[in-house]
Amino acid sequence: MAKTIKIDPLNLEAAIQTNDNLLSGLIKKDLNIMRECGGRGLCATCHIYVKDGVDSLSPISRREQRTLEVITTCNQHSRLACQARVLGEGIIVELPGGTYISQIDDVESLIGRRSEENILHPLTGAVLVEAGKLITRSMISQLKDTQGQVSEYLTKTTEA
Ligand code: FES
Repeated sequence: MAKTIKIDPLNLEAAIQTNDNLLSGLIKKDLNIMRECGGRGLCATCHIYVKDGVDSLSPISRREQRTLEVITTCNQHSRLACQARVLGEGIIVELPGGTYISQIDDVESLIGRRSEENILHPLTGAVLVEAGKLITRSMISQLKDTQGQVSEYLTKTTEA
């Protein structure tokens, strides 16, 4: 049977089969949620806040807990959407603002422009570039380094 979740502040609803993860419902809504680690509970890109209905979700696993601990914007309402399975009704989630660096296809094209949103680190959720800030060439090389480090980390974790 499907359960209905609400997505704030977009005022959207999504139907999710009982025992499926939150991510499956968010993807159906075309919400542009990244899955940098492919839904393995290793990154920040599906981090969400549960505003209500926390008891209607599966408990936090050790892996999810370890990942949440490195996410700088984590609080007591945080979950990873790929790990939290929907067991009951009354769930309301909120998506953090910002764009993860891995969502930007052509990083070079940002040089000389002002960032429209906060640009975030895909593993920690840390703000790499604040919204409204002018993006310089040296910032681009740092962003590219970050992209490389993230993919290296995730590749190593796959092999481990
Ligand atoms: S997609 Fe990476 S933790 Fe969920």
